[in-house]
Amino acid sequence: MNITQRYRWLYKPAVFIIALLPLARLVAGAFGIAGISLGADPVNEILHECGKTALQLLLITLAVRPLVRLGRLHNLLRLRRMLGLFAAFYALLHFVTYAWLDQNLDFQAILADILKRPYITIGMAALLMLVPLAVTSTNGWMRRLGRRWQKLHYLIYPIAILGVWHFWWQVKADIREPLAYAAILAALLGYRVVVKARSVSATARGRSADPAP
Ligand code: HEM
Repeated sequence: MNITQRYRWLYKPAVFIIALLPLARLVAGAFGIAGISLGADPVNEILHECGKTALQLLLITLAVRPLVRLGRLHNLLRLRRMLGLFAAFYALLHFVTYAWLDQNLDFQAILADILKRPYITIGMAALLMLVPLAVTSTNGWMRRLGRRWQKLHYLIYPIAILGVWHFWWQVKADIREPLAYAAILAALLGYRVVVKARSVSATARGRSADPAP
């Protein structure tokens, strides 16, 4: 099997199945399959599982580029779109759980909540930015948008920041978990800043080495 076949027949299906495991656990819990239970507050369990999975997948998506550079694993880029799409999928499920199971589709109450509770406002902002990224993730949109596609997809950074902030803001006492997410995000963003600074200074050095016209 060459590398393209390995990605198509092994790695992509494996990532697809692994990314569906949290959903499979929730479905099994909701129907009491295999003795799996969602505990005393199933709605809260679904909300939390989808929220955390969305955030984890966002951070994994952001980690692809550094892994490609550091490990010379260029082919990992082939998995990035699927990871990002699953992040958007779980974020959407998280919102649907909140709107439907928690708020009974009472849109007035949802709007009031978005306006009143800052962590909900932040979550909503993150979701609203994530949707256009998911929609424009296809090759067709990539072609249509050209250079603007890359610019639009830089939104993944503010989305991840808002996602971590949204998590942090709602935690009442023990901040260890959101702190861990914030530390991973800071490392990923720090890495990007260093790479960018290096490329800017390399370009500047290249220019100053150019002979005068
Ligand atoms: C990219 C978008 C979003 C991400 C990554 C995200 C992530 C998270 C995370 C990680 C949690 C904490 C889970 C836990 O404690 O185990 C959470 C909780 C929550 N999120 Fe989001 N969220 C997003 C968007 C939204 C939106 C749009 C809403 C509603 C409009 C929302 C409403 C909530 C609520 C109500 C909770 C539970 C708070 C509690 O337990 O008191 N989130 N979210």
